[in-house]
Amino acid sequence: MEIGTPIPSPRPAPHDDLDRLDRLILAAETAFMAHTGASQRLRATGAEVLSGGVASSWQATIPGTVWADHGAGSRLVDADGTEYVDLHGGFGVGLVGHAHPAIVEAVSSRVRRGTHFGQPVQDGIRVARALAERFGLPLWRFNNSGTESTMDAVHLLRVATGRPKIIKVEGTYHGHHDSVQVSVYPTPEQAGPAARPSSVPAAGAAVPEDLVRLTVVVPFGDVGAVERALHEHRGEIAGMIIEPVMMNIGLIAPPDGYLRAVSDLLHAHGAWLAFDEVKTGLAVAPGGATQLFGVTPDLLCLAKALGGGLPCGAIGGVPELMNLISDGTYEQVGTFNGNPLTMAAARAVLEDVLTAEAYEHFETLRSIMVEGVQSIQRRYNLPGQVRAYGAKGAVIFTDQLDNYRDFVAYADQWGHAHWLYQLNNGVFLPPWGKCEQWTVSVQHTAQDVLRFLTNLELLAADLRGATLGVAS
Ligand SMILES: Cc1ncc(COP(=O)(O)O)c(C=O)c1O
Repeated sequence: MEIGTPIPSPRPAPHDDLDRLDRLILAAETAFMAHTGASQRLRATGAEVLSGGVASSWQATIPGTVWADHGAGSRLVDADGTEYVDLHGGFGVGLVGHAHPAIVEAVSSRVRRGTHFGQPVQDGIRVARALAERFGLPLWRFNNSGTESTMDAVHLLRVATGRPKIIKVEGTYHGHHDSVQVSVYPTPEQAGPAARPSSVPAAGAAVPEDLVRLTVVVPFGDVGAVERALHEHRGEIAGMIIEPVMMNIGLIAPPDGYLRAVSDLLHAHGAWLAFDEVKTGLAVAPGGATQLFGVTPDLLCLAKALGGGLPCGAIGGVPELMNLISDGTYEQVGTFNGNPLTMAAARAVLEDVLTAEAYEHFETLRSIMVEGVQSIQRRYNLPGQVRAYGAKGAVIFTDQLDNYRDFVAYADQWGHAHWLYQLNNGVFLPPWGKCEQWTVSVQHTAQDVLRFLTNLELLAADLRGATLGVAS
């Protein structure tokens, strides 16, 4: 059967899909282990000195870890020498692709002139100016990761108000500091009622109960829940940290008017709004979700794509909050903040790579992917939808995904099978399929994303019992 031929069989009941997915996953995991032998040997060797054989727990993927060797343009080459179209983008960092000439030039000319002084360099002013223009917030500081950015944001919210508590959305990941390690992926048994979620420590005993109770958890998209939290904890809420588009449980856009209503409510209660744009910033639009949805927060957190592959974070904000740094009320510090190498890379990202043409290119690739996925979903009668903004998007294998409870309610097998099929057929999506999104870079081509569509169709065809020739 040709790719693209409609499949006549009726859509099976969901449990039939899951039985079949389980069988496909088993075969695909076997194929995965067979073609990643060198990676699996490295993981075993690594485990002698690296806990779990990896550098970060998210790299301990199932059934095994793929070790990277090098990258060029839109491609990543693993330790077995297999080349992939890289839609992983290193967990959403890779808007510039690999070894982009502008980044190579910026970093290599800087590296020869010294890589660390612990003193500011001029590139930092250019980076901050570019961010101020893109996001409409006048004052910035740098750090080294998304975790540091959201930690600075939470600290500033507390310092500005003298209040101890923050509001956070159930199912968002904002990094691994204590205040936000609450209700990230709680189990249904822990999570409490959907409308009034419990505050559940994400890292077990690592986050003491005394800290957990300072983070009040609400469902995404529910203005009433924010209002209730502000009333129930009157005078105690410093502010709310939110991903304006949720991007660690697939992809969920804010309902119309939600961000504005939340901002107004917080201000009415003397509290502040912080956007975590670690994933969305620079990726969904030049000025991130802030530009896309027309609501400017009081504080904005960036990281990931900003450094063009180097570890760089930033926090921007309104003078009322950022002046608490300049007047010494809050010491925003870090040995590597504004490091010359990361500043050189970030300047090149903002000035040379993520230009207006880059965003047009993202849009071209986005429409090919969205239309292609929709066509496959229609022709193979797959459940779900596709959601995409700018360089990022996700195939969502459920018809309803508005919040964390919807995310938990649909089977993990969909995302896992999809990840395996893509990986076994030359396209690297981020692992933990159900949670993550694709990221395209300025160096990806239409050919690259067509390969992604071919692989999705392979999965669809195998699921529906129509063989396309190249299973897993
Ligand atoms: C939305 C969001 N915020 C914060 C972070 C933490 O960033 P980092 O891993 O750079 O500390 C992440 C990481 O995936 C993220 O997705």
